[in-house]
Amino acid sequence: MLKHAALFNGRKNGNLSIFVVVFSVVLLVLFMYNEDIKSVAEFPSSSSTGAKSQEVTHQYQDPSSIQEDFQVKNHHQVRKTKSNKSAITEAEAQQEEQEESPIKAVFADEDGPRVQLPLLEEEAREERAAESGPKGRKVRKEESLAEAEFEEDRGAVLDRTVVGVPEGCDLFAGEWVYDNITRPIYEEQDCEFLTEQVTCMGNGRKDDSYQKWRWQPRDCNLPRFDARILLERLRGKRLMFVGDSLNRNQWESMVCLVQSAVPPGKKTLVKNGSLNVFRAEEYDATVEFYWAPFLVESNSDDPNFHSIQNRIIMPESIKKHGKNWKKVDYLIFNTYIWWMNTRNMKVLRGSFDEGATEYDEVDRPEAYRRVLKTWAKWVEKNVDPQRTMVFFMSTSPNHFKSEAWDNPSGIKCAMETKPVINPRHALDLGTDWRLFEVASNVTRSMRKVPVWFVSITALSELRKDAHTSVHTLRQGKLLTPEQQADPAKFADCIHWCLPGLPDTWNEFLYARIVSGPRLI
Ligand SMILES: *[C@@H]1O[C@H](CO)[C@@H](O)[C@H](O)[C@H]1NC(C)=O
Ligand SMILES: *[C@@H]1O[C@H](CO)[C@@H](O)[C@H](O)[C@H]1NC(C)=O
Ligand SMILES: *[C@@H]1O[C@H](CO)[C@@H](O)[C@H](O)[C@H]1NC(C)=O
Ligand SMILES: *[C@@H]1O[C@H](CO)[C@@H](O)[C@H](O)[C@H]1NC(C)=O
Repeated sequence: MLKHAALFNGRKNGNLSIFVVVFSVVLLVLFMYNEDIKSVAEFPSSSSTGAKSQEVTHQYQDPSSIQEDFQVKNHHQVRKTKSNKSAITEAEAQQEEQEESPIKAVFADEDGPRVQLPLLEEEAREERAAESGPKGRKVRKEESLAEAEFEEDRGAVLDRTVVGVPEGCDLFAGEWVYDNITRPIYEEQDCEFLTEQVTCMGNGRKDDSYQKWRWQPRDCNLPRFDARILLERLRGKRLMFVGDSLNRNQWESMVCLVQSAVPPGKKTLVKNGSLNVFRAEEYDATVEFYWAPFLVESNSDDPNFHSIQNRIIMPESIKKHGKNWKKVDYLIFNTYIWWMNTRNMKVLRGSFDEGATEYDEVDRPEAYRRVLKTWAKWVEKNVDPQRTMVFFMSTSPNHFKSEAWDNPSGIKCAMETKPVINPRHALDLGTDWRLFEVASNVTRSMRKVPVWFVSITALSELRKDAHTSVHTLRQGKLLTPEQQADPAKFADCIHWCLPGLPDTWNEFLYARIVSGPRLI
């Protein structure tokens, strides 16, 4: 089926073009005079999902999947603007209008990357303190941290033994165990790098038991997380998450997990276009996130400006992104949520560079397979398994249908405070297990470079309690009390609070990294 595309599809309304012009001018003026205009994006979307019931369309909103709103402050950012104002697409203009919110958009860059200069630790702390004051968050007294805490002899760390994972133990078969002694691994207020999108307690969540569940594999134990041991493995190396906002969620978790072992003033977080880099200076180690929601080239690749309803991909084109992943030592990929707003995927005929606008509609699993084949080829061509470990995260599930866990009076994931314990039946959350299977098969079939498929889907399906729900941002702003009171409209049941579930995902990576051979 061939369709003619308005690549950035908008309304058919005749008033629109006038609106867009006016809107663009307003934005231009605002942009020129306001350095603080922040990135805002969002995609309310509907999904048609599920291997079994494709006819059923589950409406869901995604209030914040694209929230690129780091707490590190704007005035440290050097922004380059795009001169071509038509970069504001009709779709986005339309969204902004619908949201009736203050205009807070930015322009896509044409002539250079957006740069987030490293934030001085001192300033970061001050700002953090200033921010947290009124909300009563604890202001961390870095000074009180014993210097000794950071001065443990390197040899001692290297000598520390890690209880490895026995060969053949299935880490993903097990159960959630309430453990308020060893969980959470870090405190929300102790990780200055967390974005407001995920700090649920700070955003008003009352119950904190979602932080206290530990994954217990049935046949073995996960090694206890030790930030210094991991940082020793990362010494002089780069670890990079590549993918969508769920991988960013996990990246934030990883930053928090390791940052506690790095003294104040020796760590920075730099945001530069598609790439976000946390650096632990003394270790010369980085924990990075690279935005590529489909892994391959798409019209949703702009890190700050990707609220595109009409998503179109180039399944065979990966070089543009891939060149940024070369020579990275630990690569963790994912792609899922961006596939879920339509049943079919739109595949471009030709190339964006050549201005192609026609596309074919391809069955979602088929398009997904093409993308993963392209990705696998890239990995096998560019990755030396002696030097690089590769992971692929399976689908992160959503919790929009409370009937799925036998709570028909519930509203999405709102008010859920416990995981599903001993489910009487497999949960039908609308997870597209076909994509899971494609990813599982493709990664398993890779011979030259082994890829560890991190099978988090089933165990995460149990965690209806762990989403950010109404304790998050929308368009860069905390939900208002009125919005919080309306979870049917505003709850985000895609992303996860931190500390929380993504910490467990990282424990799987940790287990693999520290029990594997050292990379050269
Ligand atoms: C601005 O963008 C439009 C549409 O993408 C394009 O036709 C036009 O050539 C661009 N102008 C400049 C100056 O880049
Ligand atoms: C931990 O949980 C147990 C069982 O729910 C409870 O009795 C205990 O008071 C809790 N301890 C802390 C420190 O919260
Ligand atoms: C941002 O990224 C670009 C391109 O990858 C690079 O040339 C530039 O040096 C980076 N800027 C900073 C401040 O790291
Ligand atoms: C995945 O592999 C299994 C076993 O080889 C096969 O039966 C199944 O059809 C494959 N599924 C997909 C979606 O490729």
